[in-house]
Amino acid sequence: MRPFIAGNWKMNHTPSSGKKFAEELVPRIKSLGADIVIFPPFVAIPSLYEVTKGTSLKIGAQDFYWEEKGAFTGEISAEMLKEAGAEYAIIGHSERRNIFGESDELVNLKLKTAVDSGLKPVLCIGEKLAERESGRTKDKIKFQLDAGLSGVSTEKVIIAYEPIWAIGTGKTATPQQAEEIHCFISEYLDERVKILYGGSVKPANAYQLMTQSHIDGVLVGGASLKIDSFYDIIRNGIKAFEEKN
Ligand code: 13P
Repeated sequence: MRPFIAGNWKMNHTPSSGKKFAEELVPRIKSLGADIVIFPPFVAIPSLYEVTKGTSLKIGAQDFYWEEKGAFTGEISAEMLKEAGAEYAIIGHSERRNIFGESDELVNLKLKTAVDSGLKPVLCIGEKLAERESGRTKDKIKFQLDAGLSGVSTEKVIIAYEPIWAIGTGKTATPQQAEEIHCFISEYLDERVKILYGGSVKPANAYQLMTQSHIDGVLVGGASLKIDSFYDIIRNGIKAFEEKN
């Protein structure tokens, strides 16, 4: 198995700075044994695709709307993203849920659309600090999996476990904390789905996290914005996988 290493750029990088990043990254990762995906802002997808087409660097979207087309001002469809070069899509990131009020029902509709349209979905789930501290982490995970995946075949879905208290805070879950929840998710789904960890992943902790047997890769925010730190995370992931395989 190869590690799956993804960078969620959130609202960072423009079409030109994103393209420059991809131009530098493509030759560096050319013969590495990892699946590598960048999730840039929508407007940067075409310029990144221009330089990554046919290479091992894949592109994804951070979100989309589930309807095919119509009067949905400000929204973008799965088909539009695919034509622009996106192969993957993040669904239900905690920032979408908490800042923009996305419900589990909406997350589920988006998952169904992604699977139907052939966009590979990365479903984000994770607990808040108060839920962890009151011992409700697994209940929350179970709830989000049931609601998000209702009526969806999990075969094509990638799960990203992103504890909210670890996102952008510099407080990473320990490898043991992450492994416990990854193990729980994989037992709960009763299938070997790919499960990524996200939340303050850095070059310094990527190796330890990815040596855990149920951590299949990482979804990186802040540390994916600079080429050197993202590249170091990729190399550390590959090293961890070589050792655990
Ligand atoms: P950070 O790596 O900046 O904590 O962000 C994680 C994340 O939200 C990835 O989707």
